[in-house]
Amino acid sequence: MNPEKSASSRPTRSTLDEIMAVMCQAHGLDVTAYDESFLAKSFEKRRRATASETAAIYLQRLSGDPAEAKIFFRSLTIPYSEFFRDPLVFALLEQVILPRLLTEKEASGRAELRLWSAGCATGQEAWSIAILLDEWTTSRGKPLAYRIFATDRSEADLARARSGVYGAATLGNVRLRQLKRYFSRQGEFYTITAKLRGRVDFSVYDLLDRASSSPPASIYGDFDLVICSNVLLYYRPQIQHFILDKLRRNLATGGYLVSGEAERQIVENAGGLGAVAPHASIFQSTPRRR
Ligand SMILES: C[S@@+](CC[C@H](N)C(=O)[O-])C[C@H]1O[C@@H](n2cnc3c(N)ncnc32)[C@H](O)[C@@H]1O
Repeated sequence: MNPEKSASSRPTRSTLDEIMAVMCQAHGLDVTAYDESFLAKSFEKRRRATASETAAIYLQRLSGDPAEAKIFFRSLTIPYSEFFRDPLVFALLEQVILPRLLTEKEASGRAELRLWSAGCATGQEAWSIAILLDEWTTSRGKPLAYRIFATDRSEADLARARSGVYGAATLGNVRLRQLKRYFSRQGEFYTITAKLRGRVDFSVYDLLDRASSSPPASIYGDFDLVICSNVLLYYRPQIQHFILDKLRRNLATGGYLVSGEAERQIVENAGGLGAVAPHASIFQSTPRRR
């Protein structure tokens, strides 16, 4: 199931306060950044999974059991992803946005296209972009200079991303042609081929890090395209604004920001970026003057 489709329920105020207090005071784990509905929902899931009859019983368990506190804390990170996850967004990237960026880049003589997948989880989003760019290069018969940076705060997920090995479940939107060209199959698993390896630079980066303005691996940001999808919705509004502000500052003039479908409203409400197309969560910073 796609977890982003069901990320809201109404928590009681006092339960939330107690969860946050217990996690912080008993275990030194800060969960205050998370969206309250998401926090309550995750709490309820673990309550049921541990067969705790009431919220009070599970809270007590959470307070006295560091292992359960870690499990609960980890459950707040959802690593779910898919290749070409939002088909409308990826169709627009393929047919409009990337060709536009690449043409502009060629015309301007500027060095390379810079892209950032922020909160990339196990890498499907970044590899999807790499596939589109490789297809473009192949169809044009011309080399293209581009760098794709992909970051997440979870080293474990990044290790899986780098390995490039995937089960069929996340490959549903990959075309047969792409499957043949960019994956090799071993039984149930599909591995990214050598052709794409080295095209994505995976590194750890916490978007909430206040000490840095862009992922250190990228050195200076200035991205033509940033995809940060299905990350914002797990955070409370103040934190969403902090992340969005960081992403916006990392955009080159005229650069594009892609969010998850469920986050479109959050980006629109924050202002500062223009929606590129109706019904698609793609936004653009102030375009270059022509
Ligand atoms: C649901 S996945 C989204 C994956 C991919 N962007 C997609 O849409 O398919 C959310 C990812 O965001 C990452 N994440 C959440 N908060 C983060 C933060 N503060 N800094 C970096 N990554 C974060 C999580 O570790 C998780 O891998």
